[in-house]
Amino acid sequence: MNIEEVIDFTAVEPDVQSLIKKTVAAREYSYSPYSKFKVGAGVLCIDGTIFTGCNIENASYPVGICAERTAIVKAVSEGKRKFKVLAVVADKENNTFTTPCGLCRQTIAEFGDIPIYLAEPLMKSVLRTSLSKLLPCAFGLGNAEILQ
Ligand code: THU
Repeated sequence: MNIEEVIDFTAVEPDVQSLIKKTVAAREYSYSPYSKFKVGAGVLCIDGTIFTGCNIENASYPVGICAERTAIVKAVSEGKRKFKVLAVVADKENNTFTTPCGLCRQTIAEFGDIPIYLAEPLMKSVLRTSLSKLLPCAFGLGNAEILQ
């Protein structure tokens, strides 16, 4: 599979389409009064379950959490560590898909080199990439065996 390409939403696998739709819905819960930039994220677990999240900001700015980490924290705290796909939904900035920040990339890396789908709320096209494309030579990527 070519892991870094822009594809039409209709060409995305059905289970990932469903993940992206739920992620679009989760984005609406974004608490972002400071940046006014809404982000949704969702993880599809190997067992088919889905956990979604949004960004949650704070008057003390560094306390805010990104959508990706919200979704991952929700999944891991419910006993899920094996992820098939991560989806991120946000508006494009400068005609570029919104990608996970560095902190989130390192958080994702803890759980392996998973495919990452970036989408806009209107779900026309999707950028399919992966953790190792976004964070080459990540620290700790060899730790998959401790995640059983
Ligand atoms: N943000 C995310 O939640 N995920 C990303 O992938 C990029 C940035 C949030 C953090 C902050 O609440 C807002 O977007 C603006 O940076």
